[in-house]
Amino acid sequence: MCGIVAAVADRNIVPVLLEGLRKLEYRGYDSAGLALIDASGLHRLRSVGRVAELTAQVEESHVAGETGIAHTRWATHGVPCERNAHPHISAGLAVVHNGIIENHESLRGRLKALGYQFTSDTDTEVVAHLIAHELKTTPDFLSAVRQAIAQLQGAYAIAVLRESDPSRLVVAREGAPLLLGLSDDACYAASDASALVQVTRRMVYLDNGDCAELMRGSYRITRVNGMPVERPESESQLSAEAIELGNYRHYMQKEIFEQPVALANTLEMLGAARSIQPGIFGAESETILGKVRQVLIVACGTSYHAGLVARYWLESIAGIPCSVEVASEYRYRDSVPNPQTLVVTISQSGETADTLAALQHAKALGMQHTLCICNVPESSLVRENSLRFITRAGPEIGVASTKAFTTQLAALYLLTLVLAKVRQRLDGQEEAAELHAVRHLPMAVAKILELEPQIREWAERFSMKQHALFLGRGRHYPIAMEGALKLKEISYIHAEAYPAGELKHGPLALVDRDMPVIAVAPNDALLEKLKSNLQEVRARGGELYVFADADSEMKESNGIQVLQLPEHYGALSALLHVVPLQLLAYHVALVRGTDVDKPRNLAKSVTVE
Ligand code: G6P
Repeated sequence: MCGIVAAVADRNIVPVLLEGLRKLEYRGYDSAGLALIDASGLHRLRSVGRVAELTAQVEESHVAGETGIAHTRWATHGVPCERNAHPHISAGLAVVHNGIIENHESLRGRLKALGYQFTSDTDTEVVAHLIAHELKTTPDFLSAVRQAIAQLQGAYAIAVLRESDPSRLVVAREGAPLLLGLSDDACYAASDASALVQVTRRMVYLDNGDCAELMRGSYRITRVNGMPVERPESESQLSAEAIELGNYRHYMQKEIFEQPVALANTLEMLGAARSIQPGIFGAESETILGKVRQVLIVACGTSYHAGLVARYWLESIAGIPCSVEVASEYRYRDSVPNPQTLVVTISQSGETADTLAALQHAKALGMQHTLCICNVPESSLVRENSLRFITRAGPEIGVASTKAFTTQLAALYLLTLVLAKVRQRLDGQEEAAELHAVRHLPMAVAKILELEPQIREWAERFSMKQHALFLGRGRHYPIAMEGALKLKEISYIHAEAYPAGELKHGPLALVDRDMPVIAVAPNDALLEKLKSNLQEVRARGGELYVFADADSEMKESNGIQVLQLPEHYGALSALLHVVPLQLLAYHVALVRGTDVDKPRNLAKSVTVE
């Protein structure tokens, strides 16, 4: 949700700001802007649309400066238009903001009464006026920002620039990510490291409640109350190539095809051992996992779907009761806490506001055993859990999550095995066999990716449709949900998923020749029942596209297309069956000509409620 880049250096930083924005565009892409200070004062450029539009404007105007802030926006308050694009300005101050200021209405009323004029519909503009107002009585820039943010409620990361103080920037965070980048002659800030690896690998992650002053080659951090604090410096491991498109046409395509490597990297810590060590989830995991009596998984979007699959594994293999909740619902509902619960949060980014809040909520209810599965080691979520598993999918840029999902599933399967072991439900032989199967996943996914030509053909036929139904049973029902989500996110075809047994209780009414039905049909105990459900569709003229296992014995016939996955894969087949659904969504979107990596209205990292 919105990306921030800021820099203070002894050279023109415009190229750094623009390249940083390009890297952060996955966070929001409806408008972009920057503010700079040069010898003649403060300049602001803003444009509706992508960073490319802003770049063109910058090139035309030849602006340059040594101190600047920049922003790419995902609209919350106020439609995407130039007037609402950041930076927002007040009395020689410019502000960019990521997050939501919840008390913006009351602050706006107060500031209006004081004579401040508003030119946008954003919540951010109150921050600019509020700091300008504080500067009237508190000349020190950092102190004025601290006094202003002490009045804000909500989540924010901000970067502030002041025309009369061109050699410094002030940044602050509360509930939205922000880090500093350091070099000998410059200081940077950004929403994530990908924006800064172009210039430095030395990073300092700010904590909630931190406020920092950035100067050329130096910085200082204080808490909101002014108390100085130090935060550790770390070396970013992010490789520049990992965030480049390379020979691929889209990030989503790249990320789908990176899955074998992402899985292999994630599973690397297993080594060649015949047994699994609970320690892969953190030093205290054996003790904690031995104590817990149930699992509660909270997550959003695709990560929530990973949790739904895991529920089937945890209950059937580890024999532990498990519930899975959408984070935004869980945080606000009255639930019955059990201190012997393992609270598992799943998040690719580790910055999803609802997931973070759900975790806080669970802790506040007295559930202290927490584990997160996350793809970003430096994220807020990782810092707030006692146990953790870092998936090693590498940076995921496409808004529709793919490799993060399959690596989350791999991690959740390992968690299942560890819990099964700790609960004495797995003997040595079974454990070795399970690990053998897990290690084979990268290869199995690679084989499935070879089915792309056939899936492309299906996509051609499919792309004219306006609606689609996805069916699955058991642990493949969440896979059907994930397939439907992928399709709607990037092709804008309305898609819904149902457990196949529910078809006759309602959705069957929708089935006709214009409603393609996609079925996930692995060869498991429910296959024969699923086949009957599919007959119900066929009898109503519905066109079926079935993803079956090689040994499912599903035959192609009039109105039934069958694609056979190369192997039958037991409990892990849920992880494999999602791959063709990702490819189907991708190719349908290609045929329909939508913006695959940046679908309308969405953003990759949702740091607002
Ligand atoms: C957004 C993204 C989804 C993602 C969800 C949860 O909606 O577009 O792809 O699944 O957030 O994100 P997280 O980073 O917590 O997994």
